[in-house]
Amino acid sequence: MTGHADTEELTDEVRETFTHHNRTYQRYCVDRKIYFVPVDEDETIRLRLQHDVLNMMFDGRTIFPPMGALRRVLDCGFGTGLWAFQIAWEHPRCEVIGIDVSPHHYNPEESVENLFLNVDNLNMPLQFHSNHFDLINSRLLAGGIDRNRWHGYMRDILRCLRGNGWCQMVEIDFNAQSDNGTITDGHALRQWSDKYRQAMTQFKNPEAPRRLAHWMRHAGFTDVEERMLPLPMCGWSDSQRDFDIGVANQENVRLLLGSLALYPFTELLGMSITEFHVLVAQARAEASNPALKPYFRLYVCVGRKPRR
Ligand SMILES: C[S@@+](CC[C@H](N)C(=O)[O-])C[C@H]1O[C@@H](n2cnc3c(N)ncnc32)[C@H](O)[C@@H]1O
Repeated sequence: MTGHADTEELTDEVRETFTHHNRTYQRYCVDRKIYFVPVDEDETIRLRLQHDVLNMMFDGRTIFPPMGALRRVLDCGFGTGLWAFQIAWEHPRCEVIGIDVSPHHYNPEESVENLFLNVDNLNMPLQFHSNHFDLINSRLLAGGIDRNRWHGYMRDILRCLRGNGWCQMVEIDFNAQSDNGTITDGHALRQWSDKYRQAMTQFKNPEAPRRLAHWMRHAGFTDVEERMLPLPMCGWSDSQRDFDIGVANQENVRLLLGSLALYPFTELLGMSITEFHVLVAQARAEASNPALKPYFRLYVCVGRKPRR
């Protein structure tokens, strides 16, 4: 990791891993109920795929609010570091800082001089000066932010932004939808969604993707704008663009139905590994079935810190 003076690095304990049903997990994260997703190479591959799918969804745009020259940017939960790397690469005079509790998905070969990545837990108060950043990005963190942390997280982000600085958040609601209403309670995708919610809800807030705008306004952000974009699970759309996105997303969805759910279903809900494999295999078949027109809801939300 490339250190930065404003954050404290955690010790080597963040590198310790354990195996659960052939997947590798970070001991630090799971023991503290921070995040229940594997940190192995399969998950790194999935995160890279997902990054490409999101790039397609956003037509290559990495920054949504109207921004002038960037001097300091914070990326919360940098994962593979691809978003932070791209910003640092495109804005060589901008200091880009990333925080993630897991250093495992980042490839240090993808680095530039103005990119600083640190290991830290976003459920703890942010350790940055007030009025510091022009832009703070928080993408796909809902599985890792504690359910009682969201208001504090929003307030922390607001404090660390300079006046007129922007926050942008992106989250996926993992409650499976169907564009033609063909997914019913009998479908494995619906059962997967219900079980995911049931397992996560004691630690995390599955409503978070839909609450971002409300929480931002409540924290004191202004010019808050939210958009919901249907993210197709496979190629079913009549629009060529959305069809292509669905095709690209199919493998990401196939992988996430396993990786997001393995620990929550087997450990938090006590499902047997056989039951897990059966449910995931059925959910995967449905997710790749164009007749069901399956999609997840993707939420994008931006808000500005008032000048004073
Ligand atoms: C689904 S990945 C998204 C990565 C990246 N933001 C992206 O969009 O590609 C979630 C990342 O957030 C990190 N994370 C989850 N909970 C966290 C927390 N409480 N503090 C810091 N990082 C966290 C995970 O380690 C993981 O790298």
